[in-house]
Amino acid sequence: MKTYATVVLAAGKGTRMRSTLSKLLHPLAGQPLLAHVLNSVEAIPSTAVFAPFSERVSTSRPVVVLGHAAEQITAALGDRCQYAMQEEQLGTGHAVLAAQSTVDALNPLPDIVLVCYGDTPLVRGEMLAAVLAEHLSRNATITFLTAFADPSSDYGRVVRDTHGQVREIVEVKRATPEQLQIQEVNSGVYCFDRAWLWESLHALPRNASGEYYLTDLIAVAGAQECPIATVQGSLDETLGVNNRVQLAEAEQLLRRRILEHHMYAGVTIVDPASTYIDVDVQIGTDTVLLPGTMLTGKTTIGSWCRIGPGTTIYQSSLGHNCIVRNSVLEESVLEDDVSMGPFSHCRPGAHLARGVRMGNFGEIKNSYIGEETDVHHFSYLGDATVGDHVNIGAGTITSNYNGLTKGKYRTTIGSGAFIGCDTVLVPPVTVGEHAMTGASALVNKDVPPNALVVGVPARFVRMLSESVETTTEGGKKE
Ligand code: UD1
Ligand code: CA
Repeated sequence: MKTYATVVLAAGKGTRMRSTLSKLLHPLAGQPLLAHVLNSVEAIPSTAVFAPFSERVSTSRPVVVLGHAAEQITAALGDRCQYAMQEEQLGTGHAVLAAQSTVDALNPLPDIVLVCYGDTPLVRGEMLAAVLAEHLSRNATITFLTAFADPSSDYGRVVRDTHGQVREIVEVKRATPEQLQIQEVNSGVYCFDRAWLWESLHALPRNASGEYYLTDLIAVAGAQECPIATVQGSLDETLGVNNRVQLAEAEQLLRRRILEHHMYAGVTIVDPASTYIDVDVQIGTDTVLLPGTMLTGKTTIGSWCRIGPGTTIYQSSLGHNCIVRNSVLEESVLEDDVSMGPFSHCRPGAHLARGVRMGNFGEIKNSYIGEETDVHHFSYLGDATVGDHVNIGAGTITSNYNGLTKGKYRTTIGSGAFIGCDTVLVPPVTVGEHAMTGASALVNKDVPPNALVVGVPARFVRMLSESVETTTEGGKKE
């Protein structure tokens, strides 16, 4: 059984981002750059490329090398990886060496060290597995990933001899004008023989830039006639993010990849150019996304929904058959068959049960709205529990903020109630089942079931007869 350990370099300052936030925590389609790399590392064992080796090769939790913003990074990633510290940032070779004691403490002791950089978020598990598979089958000392880029790129150039053998990697700042014309570049994913790696890194001198470059090991291996293998990938997958221009390029490439994934899985995306979907979003088949839709965070959407145009959904869960037009949802739940918008806003804690219809200019926060309830026009419901088949008249407001005890008191509305237009509910207050409030009522005392109240403040008028009850139920439509 062979084992490999993965080392992810994340100690650099990311100066070229010109940011107070660590470069590796800059978000890309809803996750930090570094998390994308870890996703791919974790995906290696389940890739098709890895399958033939799965019986013979195993791995451990990746080791992330930290330096700048170490606390921010550990807070963001938690214990999905192990950490090693590089106290001073003296180059990528120096950074790998900082992981030596952590890697050597692994049991079983790994034969291979897979190294990748935290700033290449587009690299897929399949690609990492391909480098590993090549390394294993070629029994190489070093195997690394290359791509083809145009001469203006800032990647290290792969220098080969006349036989096509790799001789060295030359960084742009040390490359000759001829070397700068080389299109084959280093993508920053490597497999090393572990024993050879440590020995060679310890022996590596500082280079002309005063640093220890991991890439300088290629020339060392070449001089020792050690077998060096390469795997060719596409630049789209190995884009390194050093600045915000590259961050935007990565975002665009990843966005297209995510959209295609959903389209192939049965989601209609009418205008991919104006549709944004984060990596953690799940969407059921036959759902249609209309232009200007942003689905972010861990959002789940069922089948047969119609979302957009002009809709933003963050960290929410939608059932099947929902319609959401020109609206915003945050940390909310919509059960099946809910229709919402245009121009409505569900804030954190909004839960709309099956068949709720929420219309123009409504806002709901921290509230449960029961099945088949209508909230058609200009309403604000906050900290409320609303039953089934309730009619919320136009302009109904829960006055749940008294300036002192924000959100403390709740409004409860029983099933079948009919809240007249422009009613103001002052919590704590309960409107009983099948009760009715008149237009413009100010309800600051509980209303018994089946009672009719009107006025400011609302006063009891009479109990509603059976027939009125029926009317209220039947009258719940607009
Ligand atoms: C590096 C490669 C280059 C390759 C490119 C691919 C070297 C010397 N150069 O260049 O050949 O084409 O990546 O994207 O390796 N880091 C540390 N500690 C350090 C320095 C860097 O942990 O002391 C980390 C950084 O946080 C970053 C990664 O290593 O995640 C790569 O460093 P970076 O400075 O971005 O290297 P490039 O100039 O992009
Ligand atoms: Ca880089």
